[in-house]
Amino acid sequence: MVKTKRFVTVKRFEGEPKPSDLKLVEEELPPLKEGEFLCKALWMSVDPYMRAYAPRFPLGMTMMGSQVAEIIDSKNPEFKVGQHVVGHFGWQTISISDGNATTLTGHDKPYIIPDFEGLPISLALGVLGMPGNTAYFGLLELCQPKAGETVVVTGAAGAVGSLVGQIARIRGCRVIGFAGSDEKCRWLKEDLKFDSAFNYKKVTVAQALEEAAPDGVDCYFDNVGGETSSEIIRRMNTFGRIAVCGSISSYNATNIPTATALQMPFVSKQLKMEGFLVSRWVGRWNEGILHNLKWIKEGKLKYRETITEGFERMPDAFISMLSGKNIGKAVVKV
Ligand SMILES: NC(=O)c1ccc[n+]([C@@H]2O[C@H](COP(=O)([O-])OP(=O)(O)OC[C@H]3O[C@@H](n4cnc5c(N)ncnc54)[C@H](OP(=O)(O)O)[C@@H]3O)[C@@H](O)[C@H]2O)c1
Repeated sequence: MVKTKRFVTVKRFEGEPKPSDLKLVEEELPPLKEGEFLCKALWMSVDPYMRAYAPRFPLGMTMMGSQVAEIIDSKNPEFKVGQHVVGHFGWQTISISDGNATTLTGHDKPYIIPDFEGLPISLALGVLGMPGNTAYFGLLELCQPKAGETVVVTGAAGAVGSLVGQIARIRGCRVIGFAGSDEKCRWLKEDLKFDSAFNYKKVTVAQALEEAAPDGVDCYFDNVGGETSSEIIRRMNTFGRIAVCGSISSYNATNIPTATALQMPFVSKQLKMEGFLVSRWVGRWNEGILHNLKWIKEGKLKYRETITEGFERMPDAFISMLSGKNIGKAVVKV
């Protein structure tokens, strides 16, 4: 018999999640049936959507999430022992899968990791996986940035934001990032070559954009929502484009957040704003991964991971990421 450990929810998150909202349980797994495979988690992801979606699911459920796992037994010819797979198996050390999607969306079928040409497989949870594709498709498809334009990104030092800014630079844009610490802003400017980066905890959007974008903003990649986003959108140029990726400033909120109304700039500047889920591009998944891989190999795209060691520390890694302790992608080494 094979044993697995998993985190289940025992209390609804109220405001910031607490370790006591989750419980670690151990149990035996049944034998594999025809068509199934068994895999062992190597790397686990912690992502903001886990906080945003948690209220929709019943208590007692395994915490949702994706992982990089090694196949250790298989009765499914498409998934062979020794291969590495990305799967939405939840916060669980050993999982059984039949190769089908695990959620109702149907967009999260396990897949064998493509050849990363020597790069670490943990990147399948970051730049060469869901966050990388979020940046790639969200920016290029919805904002359609052109050379010489000014692009603003919030959550700029995180998994998605740090890539958005660099892809905009690759496209020849001027890039302004907002992030939550001086250290993050230094990294964005010195290592990732953002044109400007501002610590939103110290500088207002008005001050920052007066200095860095006196001629206005053409594209805005919104990771945070709230008043920060309203302030940025009010400074957009005619025919500006806004990709709404997330609203992390409100994920822990207990009341529905309010922000300055934006109908006036939308009309007068003829702005276009579109929300998206990266699953929209599930049919082009490898295109995004391979583009980002090529840019890494060419030295044009840099990545960074904040690694927490130990499956038992999943809740700490999750809470730390939500409070901004990560730079780049937050992952857990099991
Ligand atoms: N639409 C999609 O398909 C899709 C896919 C992936 C991610 N997303 C969204 O993209 C955004 C970024 O995700 P990620 O995976 O790249 O996470 P991340 O940026 O790596 O980590 C979350 C970051 O959010 C920032 N943050 C926390 N509270 C904040 C607040 N009140 N105001 C502003 N920033 C705050 C923190 O950085 P600071 O130090 O800067 O505060 C923290 O490091 C999230 O909104 C997420 O939901 C959407």
